[in-house]
Amino acid sequence: MTGVFVLINSRRFPIISHLRDQGRRNRDGVSAVTCFITFEGIEGCGKTTQVGLLSRMLEEQGKPVLVTREPGGCAIADKIRAILLDADNHALVPLAELLLYAAARAQHVAEVIRPALAEGKVVICDRFTDATMAYQGHGRSLDRDLIRTLNRLAVGGISPDMTILLDCPAEVGLKRALARIETTEGAREERFEQESLRFHRAVRQGYLALAAGDPDRFVVLDGTLDIRETATAISKAVLSRLSQG
Ligand SMILES: Nc1ncnc2c1ncn2[C@@H]1O[C@H](COP(=O)(O)OP(=O)(O)O)[C@@H](O)[C@H]1O
Ligand SMILES: [Mg+2]
Repeated sequence: MTGVFVLINSRRFPIISHLRDQGRRNRDGVSAVTCFITFEGIEGCGKTTQVGLLSRMLEEQGKPVLVTREPGGCAIADKIRAILLDADNHALVPLAELLLYAAARAQHVAEVIRPALAEGKVVICDRFTDATMAYQGHGRSLDRDLIRTLNRLAVGGISPDMTILLDCPAEVGLKRALARIETTEGAREERFEQESLRFHRAVRQGYLALAAGDPDRFVVLDGTLDIRETATAISKAVLSRLSQG
């Protein structure tokens, strides 16, 4: 038998196929009326800025919106986020990092995303599964099949209907991100900003490869354009998708 199994009382249970089927059933019940939008791209490409503008636009149109982010998005996953982004955690090994992302995502999907979609909300998430593939797969060169497996396990059948990729050169994004960190108070969540330019270039290329492989889901926009111009392009793409039901 192939697949991933869990042993319970010496019996093997296929956890991946089980979760996938369960997810599909859950998803089928709500998919006709929901929209799950994710934002992706390197540090400083403008994700959080555009998530805020899109959610405001949709709320002004009377649409029920839930904005969330990864890593984190709920109390337990936020604790995992603190570990993942703490610049003092130099010793965190890539596999532990990957597993922490998966754990945080499993909690976030179960506690926040799935219930919000079931309630008919438009869910907007700042980073999701593609970030794991881009950062841990392309950036850290971890096994991509393992990442796909963990992503599938963590999401339990939920997947983005639309992914906005804000593409920009690593130099541009990092410059913006570092300027933002200098002006932000509170915990310094900069473990990834401290990675090399080479790492961020690999992440960018990873994102572009993911988008090329799934053109129906991805909308790729130039993150170096003016904030308003980008917001308008995103609004158009999202409203068009929502009107398709
Ligand atoms: N299109 C843009 N042009 C110039 N500056 C931008 C643009 N989008 C965002 N910024 C600025 O760059 C910084 C990082 O943006 P942010 O939205 O936090 O990026 P991310 O969430 O992708 O890391 C912020 O200070 C933001 O105001
Ligand atoms: Mg952000």
